[in-house]
Amino acid sequence: MTKKIFAHRGIPTLAPENTMASFNEVINYGIDWLETDLSITKDEQVFIIHDDKLNRTTNRTGSIETLDSSDVKNADAGYWFAEKYRGEKIPTLGQLIDFLNIHKLNANIELKGVVGDDANYLADSLVKQFAEALDRLDDNVDLIISSFNPIMLEKMYKLKPDLKYAVLFDEVGLKEDWNLTMQACHAKIIHPDSNGLTKEKIKKMQDYGYQINVWTVDSISRARELFSYGVDGIFTNIADRMNFLIES
Ligand code: G3P
Ligand code: CA
Repeated sequence: MTKKIFAHRGIPTLAPENTMASFNEVINYGIDWLETDLSITKDEQVFIIHDDKLNRTTNRTGSIETLDSSDVKNADAGYWFAEKYRGEKIPTLGQLIDFLNIHKLNANIELKGVVGDDANYLADSLVKQFAEALDRLDDNVDLIISSFNPIMLEKMYKLKPDLKYAVLFDEVGLKEDWNLTMQACHAKIIHPDSNGLTKEKIKKMQDYGYQINVWTVDSISRARELFSYGVDGIFTNIADRMNFLIES
């Protein structure tokens, strides 16, 4: 199987993370896979943003599930990174699908968990809208759906059982009943944290037959080591400087 380099939130060392500017850098550098994150607002609009709050990556504040889409649309997601990105917006799910289709770019799309009083209702709305949006994804775009949250994966699986699912585990999660979670989530792909991940743990995952994509690896020597252990892919913030590792 071809090894994968996933451009984590685009190329966030070159342009503000999870913006179209960052995604355009993925195309500019010829990377095959984009990694990005989905969240939902109080009024049920789906946007591309990593953090629960707008504080770090925009000029606005507040938790996304407590905000209306107009607040999110009006946020500037660029000039915190550099003046030349002033005016960059938080992309919508629709814009992401259009972008993937235009460029035939493969994607790992992470479903963020939803919190708050209406968490379950909003989670259902998020997966429903995601499933509907995927109906117009180009057949040539390869897709992995991931989450740290098994409930989000289970909700999505009920709507789209034929897609590829991956469970994300942090270092602590991998010390627990990770294989139960994998099986319960119908996942054939595991996304472990690079921290604490040993050759022996990788071997165990391989013995179960899982594909393995490791996050987030910004050291070229660590990436080489992980590939030498047989992992299938890595998520990195420096995809522009990692792609040579998988070119033959
Ligand atoms: O999908 C890998 C990685 O994105 C998971 O962690 O917190 O960056 O979404 P996070
Ligand atoms: Ca992510």
